[in-house]
Amino acid sequence: MGIRSVLVICFFHCFPVEGQVFEPLSADFILIYDVVARTLYRTDLNNYSYVTIPLQDNFFPEDIDYDPIDDVIFATNRSHIISLSTYGERQTTVRTFNTEANIIGIAVDAASRLLFYTDRGNDVIGVISLDNYSHKTVLRNVIYPEDIVADPINGNIYWSERGLYILTLEMSNYDGTHRKLVMQNRSEVPVIFDRDPMDFDLKDGDLYLCENNHRRIRRVNASSSNGQTIYENEGDTLACRITIHQSKIYFTFGSEIKRLEMDGTGETNLPFDKLRYPGVIHAHSNRSLATNGCSDGRGGCSHFCFPLPGGSRMCSCPDVMVLQPDHQTCEEFSILLMATNDRSSIYAIDLSNGDSIQSPLGNLEKPRALSYDSINQTIFWTDITLHMIFSATISGRDQKAIRYLKINSSPQGIAVDETSRLLFYTDRENGIIAVLSLDGVSQKVIVRNKFEEPHDIVTNAVNGTIFWTSFGTDGKILTANYDGTNKRDLINTGNAEPSGLAIDIIGLRIAFYFLFVLSING
Ligand SMILES: *[C@@H]1O[C@H](CO)[C@@H](O)[C@H](O)[C@H]1NC(C)=O
Ligand SMILES: *[C@@H]1O[C@H](CO)[C@@H](O)[C@H](O)[C@H]1NC(C)=O
Ligand SMILES: *[C@@H]1O[C@H](CO)[C@@H](O)[C@H](O)[C@H]1NC(C)=O
Ligand SMILES: *[C@@H]1O[C@H](CO)[C@@H](O)[C@H](O)[C@H]1NC(C)=O
Ligand SMILES: *[C@@H]1O[C@H](CO)[C@@H](O)[C@H](O)[C@H]1NC(C)=O
Ligand SMILES: *[C@@H]1O[C@H](CO)[C@@H](O)[C@H](O)[C@H]1NC(C)=O
Ligand SMILES: *[C@@H]1O[C@H](CO)[C@@H](O)[C@H](O)[C@H]1NC(C)=O
Ligand SMILES: *[C@@H]1O[C@H](CO)[C@@H](O)[C@H](O)[C@H]1NC(C)=O
Repeated sequence: MGIRSVLVICFFHCFPVEGQVFEPLSADFILIYDVVARTLYRTDLNNYSYVTIPLQDNFFPEDIDYDPIDDVIFATNRSHIISLSTYGERQTTVRTFNTEANIIGIAVDAASRLLFYTDRGNDVIGVISLDNYSHKTVLRNVIYPEDIVADPINGNIYWSERGLYILTLEMSNYDGTHRKLVMQNRSEVPVIFDRDPMDFDLKDGDLYLCENNHRRIRRVNASSSNGQTIYENEGDTLACRITIHQSKIYFTFGSEIKRLEMDGTGETNLPFDKLRYPGVIHAHSNRSLATNGCSDGRGGCSHFCFPLPGGSRMCSCPDVMVLQPDHQTCEEFSILLMATNDRSSIYAIDLSNGDSIQSPLGNLEKPRALSYDSINQTIFWTDITLHMIFSATISGRDQKAIRYLKINSSPQGIAVDETSRLLFYTDRENGIIAVLSLDGVSQKVIVRNKFEEPHDIVTNAVNGTIFWTSFGTDGKILTANYDGTNKRDLINTGNAEPSGLAIDIIGLRIAFYFLFVLSING
């Protein structure tokens, strides 16, 4: 069923269906997603009339937010973030996440053109540019992050973290730096709810927390972490959600939505008698759109603009790009790394200007193979005399031996898959291909064949496959899955020894020997 054929359900007043002209949007509305009726409403706060926003089949929002500049709603259903127009007509996928992902909370900073999200499956917080959907991971090592809000004036994010047993409220700058605890408490209730013992919103530097476990609403001054209970209710407050609009607090309470003054007084039930279970709410007023160091054309930044207090800003780049010396433009990482085993050195060559620097690394005997992790800006290399695998940052810091190999080993090839956080290496002498975690702690041999003499190796992260050259009786290029299954010859090069290998995922080609190019399926 296409989205255009979804019926508009009317409660107080009927709005036109397909083909007719909709009423102009009021500046003040609440978006309400009823998780039982599986219906998304846009509710006018002046007269409480509401319209249904059609959602594509099987899209059940977990959280919603709104961008007044482009007039679009953003919603997450745990695996996808989509955008839709306020009439539900245009629906676009903003980002599809990996299978482990569990995108629970989203927060839009419209002025800076950013959307933050929490991913409880991968334990990360990320940000997406609203202008062209570039992506950056800003925090790792967050344990079950849930809700998130952004403070566009100071450039801070606040998020709740379920942790293992301790529920915390934390904050950091937009770029993940200056992370600190705002508040923590042990959850008294065992984790039986799928999510959300706490929801919160932000106004004037105060966080308003709806705490289901305690059946109360608290105001917390984010800079002093003092909490003050402003509302308590013994009733059924499970899955309470909260939003602030024009100096009023709105929160869900069973099948109702209640309104409070900012000090917690003046409790009023809003006349939404058709709601069954409002699971997600988000209020909007365009009178409060922030002005910050990013609100004028992303502050001149090519990709991400992160506001700082006092109207200043910093530019930041997507995961695979680096900020150029102009502090505004991001470019693809373009450094060629070169290991030379005769001079016992590793060089980094900047491809834009040809400058080369010798990395200040110690303990190099015969570095043979190199690979690079752009997420952590870390190089990995093998040393065939020391029989070790090392890592260090691109600037040469934090050098460590992550794995000691067998004394007769000959690690000729290495390949990092930065998405899966895996490292593959070949051991020509023992006919082994093994996979390691990037810290070198866990290892598994996936291919073992003494006669094959594996040499160089590359990964195809898209399909989870490796390709390698081998020198055995015949020169060959082989391929297998990451776990070593489905191993097969791709090509036999006879007595030519294919030493180098490179892969072009987009063009589906691999190049070897610097001379031949082959399609990935041979
Ligand atoms: C509610 O108010 C909005 C403007 O704020 C108006 O467009 C709409 O027609 C009103 N609806 C009803 C039912 O009065
Ligand atoms: C708020 O939104 C209304 C309706 O889209 C628009 O007419 C008005 O100009 C907006 N106000 C501001 C301050 O942006
Ligand atoms: C989210 O929505 C997408 C697109 O509609 C759908 O393919 C996916 O299965 C949904 N994910 C979940 C977890 O429901
Ligand atoms: C943490 O929980 C305990 C037990 O319910 C309560 O006494 C205490 O006030 C809470 N602390 C904060 C900061 O909420
Ligand atoms: C929060 O606490 C700090 C330090 O006590 C104080 O300076 C600030 O005014 C408070 N902010 C609010 C919004 O009350
Ligand atoms: C995002 O926008 C910037 C600046 O307009 C551009 O350089 C970059 O290529 C864009 N990225 C994508 C993925 O479109
Ligand atoms: C990045 O490197 C640091 C320092 O070596 C390490 O602690 C961290 O786990 C790495 N992160 C990832 C995602 O590999
Ligand atoms: C992934 O595998 C599929 C089917 O095996 C193939 O059609 C596709 O080209 C492969 N993609 C890449 C990038 O290798």
